[in-house]
Amino acid sequence: MLNPDSATGHETNREGGWRLVIHGGAGTMSRDRITPEQDREIRVALGRALDAGSAILSKGGSALDAVTESVKVLEDDPNFNAGRGSVLTYDGEIELDASIMDGRTRSAGAVAGVSTTKNPVLLARRVMEASPHVFLGRKGADRFAMEQGLEQVDPSYFETPERRRQWQEFRARKVGYFDVDMKYGTVGAVALDKEGHVAAATSTGGLTGKRWGRIGDSPVIGAGTYADDRACAISATGAGEYFIRLGVAHEICARARLKGESLQKAADMVIAELTEIGGIGGVIATGPQGEMIWSFNAPGMYRGRIGSSQPKQVAIFGDE
Ligand code: GLY
Repeated sequence: MLNPDSATGHETNREGGWRLVIHGGAGTMSRDRITPEQDREIRVALGRALDAGSAILSKGGSALDAVTESVKVLEDDPNFNAGRGSVLTYDGEIELDASIMDGRTRSAGAVAGVSTTKNPVLLARRVMEASPHVFLGRKGADRFAMEQGLEQVDPSYFETPERRRQWQEFRARKVGYFDVDMKYGTVGAVALDKEGHVAAATSTGGLTGKRWGRIGDSPVIGAGTYADDRACAISATGAGEYFIRLGVAHEICARARLKGESLQKAADMVIAELTEIGGIGGVIATGPQGEMIWSFNAPGMYRGRIGSSQPKQVAIFGDE
């Protein structure tokens, strides 16, 4: 169920300023499941991602560059399930997904199932800017990254001892298609720049134990990521299958654009619908009016935001 007081954030009154909102996943994080050390590390990491994006926006840089940089910082941090620190597939391998969208032109780029490209968000951006396509997959996507000169790594670079332990635990349970206990999630960023343009980016390792080439919502434009200068920039996190079924990111934008709903209301309505069909997760959003919002139906979401006239804020639990 939505908790309107704690699970939503709300900021408006743009006044020509810039905005940045980030997330590091939504799920079953609660105070008794996160150690004080993890709590501190996560908050520092979220702060670092906000610093990276806001350094660009405050100098008049683009929303597109800001979301790229914030997501890259989160991909490089092993605390999050994206880039280094990604979860392992059923076969104990790495398959990374990412996407990016520019609200100015509604150009988009996405990749699924890559395993050697160090920063999938950079690859998604190259797909958008240097290929005639929107969506590339698996080996072909990694090959395109190589051709583009993007840094390649051995897949073992992405793995951490904690992710191997979670995978072993998952395999030992011998149940389910994948681990739905999503306490570690996807990362994402949305931004509004001084010129009034918005952008969104999302990156993930997917779900522990995923198999058969399963792809979630994060690289699916309209489901996990969407940006349109007329209404919004959205990045989602959660159980991808449900986000794909509702086209969550586009649905929120469409409600805001066509029904005139505030981004907060549009996001809350779509998350309520997600709850009705059994989905868990959340979204972050910004838009041309300067909203900086989030909405989620999970106990917690790693999240943060900052604006030209709003101080840096990071949070984990639903009641803060
Ligand atoms: N939201 C991430 C996934 O379902 O893969």
